[in-house]
Amino acid sequence: MNDLFLRACKRQAVSRTPVWLMRQAGRYLPEYRAVRAKADFLTMCKTPELAVEVTLQPVDLIGVDAAIIFSDILVVPAAMGMPFEMAESVGPRFASPLRTRADVEALQIPDPARSLRFVLDALELAKRSLGGRVPLIGFSGAPWTLATYMVEGRGSRDYQHISRMMLDDPETFSLLMDKLTRAVQLYLEAQLAAGADAVQIFDTWAGVLPPDHFRKWSLDPIERIVSRLHRDNEPVIVFCKGANHSLRELAQIGADVVSLDWTVDMAIARELTDDKVALQGNLNPSYLYASPERIRREVRSILQKYGPHTGHVFNLGHGVFPDVPVDNVRAMVRAVHEESLAFHKG
Ligand code: CP3
Repeated sequence: MNDLFLRACKRQAVSRTPVWLMRQAGRYLPEYRAVRAKADFLTMCKTPELAVEVTLQPVDLIGVDAAIIFSDILVVPAAMGMPFEMAESVGPRFASPLRTRADVEALQIPDPARSLRFVLDALELAKRSLGGRVPLIGFSGAPWTLATYMVEGRGSRDYQHISRMMLDDPETFSLLMDKLTRAVQLYLEAQLAAGADAVQIFDTWAGVLPPDHFRKWSLDPIERIVSRLHRDNEPVIVFCKGANHSLRELAQIGADVVSLDWTVDMAIARELTDDKVALQGNLNPSYLYASPERIRREVRSILQKYGPHTGHVFNLGHGVFPDVPVDNVRAMVRAVHEESLAFHKG
C-alpha cells in the first residue's frame, strides 16, 4: 500500500513527496475522452462502473499517489432539488436558479444514502478496485462556492445575484448557507463511511469575497463542517482559492491540510501557517504547457521552498487544463518523485 499521501497529510515522515492533481481524471487523457465519447458527463457521474473506470485512469497512466473519486461538486445542489445540465464547452447551467425566500425554503437537505447513493456506490467500488494501491479521496464543494452556482445559475464573472441576496436579503442568504453547511457535513460523513480515506472541500470562488465576508461566508461554514464531521482520523483538506490574505486563519479551522493556489510563494505560506497544517500545492496549472525540463525546474523550486520537512502534498494550484500534453503531466509527476527524494533523507 502506497500511503505516502496520507502520511504527508498527517505530517508523518515520508520517503518522498506524494503528488496528485486536481481534475486528474479529465479530458487531457485520451482514455478519459474515449469513455466520455460513449456517455455524457452526468451519466458518467451516476454510473459507478464508468466513474470508477476514469477514477483509476490517472493512477494507472500518470502514476499519482492518490485517486480522487470522479464526480462533481454540483451533485449536491441537484440532490437538494436543483437539476442542472453540463452544457458542452459552456459549463453547468441550472434550470431555475435560487432568487427568492420561497426558493431557498423549498431546498431539501439530502440524505446521501438515498439521493447521493451513486457517489457512495462509486466510492465503495473504487476502494475495492484500488485494492489498497493508493488512498482514495472524496470531496465536496464548500457552501459558498455551491451557493454561487445555485444563485447565479451558472459560472459567473460578476456575482450580481448572489451579492444582491447576501447584502439585501441576509436572512434568506443565511438560511441558504445553513442548509448547505448541514448538507455538506452529511455528504462528507457518508463519503468517509463509504470508504474515502480523506476528503477535500473545494471553495473555488472564495477569492471573490472581501476578507471580512470571507471569514463569515467561506471560513466559518467550513470550520463548522470540519468541527462537526464524524471521522476516524481521516484527513480533511481545504482549498480556498484566492484566499491567501487569510492563510494564518485558514490554518486554524481544524483542517489537516491547506491547499494553495499558485499565487502565493510556498516559503511564505509555510511561514504564515507556522507548522499547524500540511500544505498542498502549488504549481501554476498553465506551466504544464511548458517543456518537461522547464516543468522540472519549477517543481524543484517549489520543493526547495517547502524545504526538508514532511507535510507537503504536491499538486497544482487549481485543476489541470483539458488541453495540456499528457507527457508533460507524466513528466511533472516523475519530477516530484525524483527531485523530492533529496528532501526526505533520514
Ligand atoms: O479532480 C478530479 O479528477 C475529480 C473530479 C472533479 C470534477 N469536478 C470533474 C469534472 C472534481 C473534484 C470537480 C470539482 C468541481 N466541479 C469544482 C471545484 C474545483 C474546481 O475545479 O474549481 C467546480 C467549480 C466544479 C463545477 C464544474 N464542473 C464546472 C465549472 C465544470 C465545467 C468546466 C469544464 O472544465 O468543462 C465542470 C465539469 C467537469 N467536472 C469536468 C470534469 C472532468 C469536465 C466535463 C467533461 O468531461 O466534459
